[in-house]
Amino acid sequence: MTSDAPRRPRPAATVTPCVDGPLLLRGDYELLTPEGERIEPGRRTVALCRCGRSAIKPFCDGTHDSTRFRASGDRERPPGR
Ligand code: FES
Repeated sequence: MTSDAPRRPRPAATVTPCVDGPLLLRGDYELLTPEGERIEPGRRTVALCRCGRSAIKPFCDGTHDSTRFRASGDRERPPGR
């Protein structure tokens, strides 16, 4: 089966918001501190905390489950937009 739809180039890295959880970062990425020092992720796919409660920021440690963090997996927009 073939498609005539144009193929999008594969991005170097992708970020996927998880419903009520972290941001999954995959691909060819580099994590840096605000000072520009490299943070070694130790794996190709990492979960980045977006609830603010992780003890191992910038990585998710699962604390979002016990704090009942809620967030959509979709893009969120400010009210009125
Ligand atoms: S999103 Fe998992 S601990 Fe913050």
